[in-house]
Amino acid sequence: MPASRAPTLLERSKYVIYWRGEAKSGYTATFRHWEFVGALTSVMSARYAGTGAGAAEIENAAKAASFTNLFTLNPANPASADQVDMYNTALQVLVFGEGEGGVNVTDEDVFKATSRCSLIHHTYLWLGEGATYADLVRDSINSKVLRKAASNGETWRVRRYEFSFLNDTDNPRFGKDATRSVAKERKSLPKIWPVLELFKGAVDLKDPVIHLNLLEGLHECGPHPSKPEELKKVLALTLACGAKHMTISPRTRICKTTTPLCSISSHLLCNVAMVGSGPSQSILDPFAGSAATLLAAAMISPEVRTVGIDTGFGLDISRADIHRDFTTRGLAAPVLIQGDVLDSASRDDARSANCGAFDVIMTDPPYLIRESFTGEQGMGAPLLGLLKAMGEDFEQGKPLLKRGGSLVSFVPCTPGHHIDELLPKQHLQDFAGLQLQTKREQKINSSLSRWIVAFRAVR
Ligand SMILES: C[S@@+](CC[C@H](N)C(=O)[O-])C[C@H]1O[C@@H](n2cnc3c(N)ncnc32)[C@H](O)[C@@H]1O
Repeated sequence: MPASRAPTLLERSKYVIYWRGEAKSGYTATFRHWEFVGALTSVMSARYAGTGAGAAEIENAAKAASFTNLFTLNPANPASADQVDMYNTALQVLVFGEGEGGVNVTDEDVFKATSRCSLIHHTYLWLGEGATYADLVRDSINSKVLRKAASNGETWRVRRYEFSFLNDTDNPRFGKDATRSVAKERKSLPKIWPVLELFKGAVDLKDPVIHLNLLEGLHECGPHPSKPEELKKVLALTLACGAKHMTISPRTRICKTTTPLCSISSHLLCNVAMVGSGPSQSILDPFAGSAATLLAAAMISPEVRTVGIDTGFGLDISRADIHRDFTTRGLAAPVLIQGDVLDSASRDDARSANCGAFDVIMTDPPYLIRESFTGEQGMGAPLLGLLKAMGEDFEQGKPLLKRGGSLVSFVPCTPGHHIDELLPKQHLQDFAGLQLQTKREQKINSSLSRWIVAFRAVR
């Protein structure tokens, strides 16, 4: 479904999220909920801006998401704990509790949040479930969401996807992806005819407005069924697909550097940093490189103002190429400052370009593997240097990050180190006016992890 076509179904709903598969275990799955809740909080903060709704209430409403697995791997399967986890969490039901102070999540919020998440394949609106087609029809037919979707005369299509099999090891995709058999679809659809005949619009197999999905092969928990017919079926309506992040993948960009951040990670940083949660936000990347983070921010929220600092601008990194990466996508080009972020003059230039402190700082600092760094050496050093500089600026009455703003950064970590040794000590966090919110590990390979760490400016 094109991201521009927001559905108009506005009632409290139940959703199904089909997450993007993991290239390798531990690479992205740990960030899925964090990314989604960050994106949802941003979308809701923008919607509630100026209404008097509190930031805490908005954040709590988004965080009140509860996820339940729709797969359970047959225990008879020989699989590692990682595989079981990867399989079982690939498709999840999502429901929200009642929010405080009248702050509630709407379908429109979930639609917008999904459209900016790099780790979501699709989000569906739940219509009903059943062990048999008859049960499924009984459960779905009175769904208000279904009735509303069916009655508006829009073009529609239904597809059947089978997610898993009793003998899962025979499935090369191992539950990460769905299979679609046209022959099985032809047999199944007549069995849900009472639901399909409600649709008044024309069938359009190519580009319909309404996508109905018959999801089969689901099994949440309890003893594993012995026959495929006993696996559960769910009827769902496509609400949105995840971010089209590949449109800014390094391969598509004009600016070529040796260490570009991939488009999934760039979106992830933006969502965790809650880009777009306020009007005309300002965003700084102090180690910007090819400006992947700023490009993702501008894609997600085109009204943001973006500023990058890098020692390489005008030397091995072409500013003109970066500008063209933005303008050819119809986005406002960032301000790019050539300099060392540890040098106060570079930070002064960044503040002048922005008329003051920033709402968000997000960055992928040098890992000191391929890039040089001017400050102290050691894996956490660039972040420590940045926090020291932020503290000095604050003492001089010129903060780099606004109170309440987010700082999100990658921190590399190799075996033999513990992430806590690499993170800024409490006294340095206090000096910089930051409070650590969350840290999570991403395994790059057997000898390198990188963590995403998120701080909030508390003064
Ligand atoms: C990991 S790369 C950033 C990659 C970037 N996210 C991208 O997508 O291209 C780190 C960058 O920090 C820059 N850098 C290193 N030391 C710096 C410093 N002291 N001040 C500013 N930039 C610095 C390097 O030139 C390099 O481009």
